[in-house]
Amino acid sequence: MSTVQEARAKLGEHFGVGGSGKPDRWEALWADGSFIPWDRGLPNPALEDLLKDRQDLIGIPKEASDTAGKRKKAFVPGCGKGYDVLLLSSFGYDAVGLEVSETALKRCLEERDKHGDKYAVRDASLGAGKSNFVAGDFFSNEWTGSAGAEQFDLIYDYTFLCALPPSMRHQWALRMSHLLAPDGHLICLEFPLSKNPNLGGPPFGLQSKVYVQHLAQPGLDIPYNAEGYIPEGVTYPDNPAALKRAAHWQPARTHEIGKDQDWISVWHR
Ligand SMILES: C[S@@+](CC[C@H](N)C(=O)[O-])C[C@H]1O[C@@H](n2cnc3c(N)ncnc32)[C@H](O)[C@@H]1O
Repeated sequence: MSTVQEARAKLGEHFGVGGSGKPDRWEALWADGSFIPWDRGLPNPALEDLLKDRQDLIGIPKEASDTAGKRKKAFVPGCGKGYDVLLLSSFGYDAVGLEVSETALKRCLEERDKHGDKYAVRDASLGAGKSNFVAGDFFSNEWTGSAGAEQFDLIYDYTFLCALPPSMRHQWALRMSHLLAPDGHLICLEFPLSKNPNLGGPPFGLQSKVYVQHLAQPGLDIPYNAEGYIPEGVTYPDNPAALKRAAHWQPARTHEIGKDQDWISVWHR
């Protein structure tokens, strides 16, 4: 058995069926600290390339003419040790990382304090945005005030949707739709696309179609077939909370575990 398969089997055992929807199970892993197999130790290069090369799609974090310094707000749910949050702030966003685990939040602050020099300002004329780490459950409203925003201009999901049991995907889509500002963009780095959904999780196997179907019908509990896939040929009425896919591509760089497999999708209203 490969190391990846071993780690996935151990995660499945730790969480049990539906367990990855329970915040205390994540905190138990973070508090123990010896088994955090998803942690890659750095921001995802696919996000870095997107922020650098696709401003045509997502815009810029701050208008140079805006002397008041109003920056776009970025949000990373389930941010782990916060690498991607710190990357977003180095690009000029006021970035917020949300974690249900208090211990993970401590690791975020350590990363910022000890390795802040790894996140150098990308554009001196824009400067860096703030990085803020907030404790809370993505599905609750309790943390939004402390995050400094009800809605965000840019939301980044990597290894968050796949961490949740498939039965929570419709709630994930509804919450994403609510949290996205009217002109905002949701970036999904789709992973793991090559894992059979019948193998359980986390991470739970995903297909690009899962993002398309759920984000088109936020809140609708779409049925899956016995093999764990969304059946072909089922259509639904238009939904006012729907997000549309603005772009979809395979990134040249990503973490090794998703190499040649990950895709990026960018969503807007
Ligand atoms: C698979 S890890 C990925 C972490 C990070 N995105 C990364 O790539 O390193 C999923 C993270 O989501 C957090 N999490 C799980 N459920 C959550 C929830 N309901 N609200 C906020 N965070 C949650 C967990 O504590 C865990 O750190």
